Amino acid sequence: SRQLREGLIIATAALSGCEGIQSTLTPRGPAAESIARINWIMFWGATAILLLVMTLALYAVYRHPRKRRPISGNGMIVTGGVILPLVALSALLIYGTHGMSNLRHEPYEGALRTMRIEVVGNQWWWDVYYWIGDQGTNVITANEIHIPAGFPVAISVRSNDVIHSFWVPSLAGKIDLVPGKSNRILLQADRPGVFRGQCAEFCGAQHARMALFVVAESPHTFATWLAKQRLPDSTPVHPILQRGQDAFVANGCLECHTIRGLGKAKLRGPDLTHVGDRLFLAAGSIKNNPANLAKIIAHSQFVKPGSAMPSFTELDSDTLQSIAAYLWSLK
Ligand code: CUA
Repeated sequence: SRQLREGLIIATAALSGCEGIQSTLTPRGPAAESIARINWIMFWGATAILLLVMTLALYAVYRHPRKRRPISGNGMIVTGGVILPLVALSALLIYGTHGMSNLRHEPYEGALRTMRIEVVGNQWWWDVYYWIGDQGTNVITANEIHIPAGFPVAISVRSNDVIHSFWVPSLAGKIDLVPGKSNRILLQADRPGVFRGQCAEFCGAQHARMALFVVAESPHTFATWLAKQRLPDSTPVHPILQRGQDAFVANGCLECHTIRGLGKAKLRGPDLTHVGDRLFLAAGSIKNNPANLAKIIAHSQFVKPGSAMPSFTELDSDTLQSIAAYLWSLK
């Protein structure tokens, strides 16, 4: 029917719009694999028990009364009500506890010691700090985490305001970002790829638009990316880009957004150093391109209502385009 066809078209469009894998059932790293395994064991275990119970129930209903063999009431209660659940649930508990302890301790100790990534939650975006060697932090970015594929990477998380939860389903389990406390988790991607993550704890109006992307790259590509990120952005040479930079400063954008090489923000907003390199804007809300950069500047409160970023509706089109072009040039 027409309705079904339209429904299918909409569903296909919605699914194809997904950028990066975000599913517990498509694990792409060891931690996610063990979580998916527990999930499938529980699913098939529950299915087997359901089939057994349904078969017995149907037997009781449809078997001719005279052909039913009497079953001892006590025997049935002891077997089906005590022994079977005891065995099934104990097995699950032991397996689950064992898997959980694997996730929490052993691999973390073996994680890359040369680099630690700190993810900080804000309403509603993620700061990402790279602590490299013992030189402290020299890379700050936002809403996008690059990691070398094939290595366990230690991630520590904390919050600047309310409780958030860091969740990249294809790579690992969830970890809460609790104000005043530092938690940690391991991220490991087996192969290069882009994986979507999402805040998994309701944290206010734009909780749904608090996504992030993990970009797993070959160690060489990752090293190149990191080396580039450590450099400040250079001063634009093209007049239009220079005009954009001037407008960026004149409109007070530096109050909240740091651009290394241009200025440091007084207030907290996502760091925009090398923002032209990122896949998405506004914590995974819209794709990063010049048109969407202009859109988020002029209509931030339409894209992400309630966020601290005001809509700069008063900017004339030329100024707006020049700021967008300038930000897009920061690569
Ligand atoms: Cu942050 Cu939900």
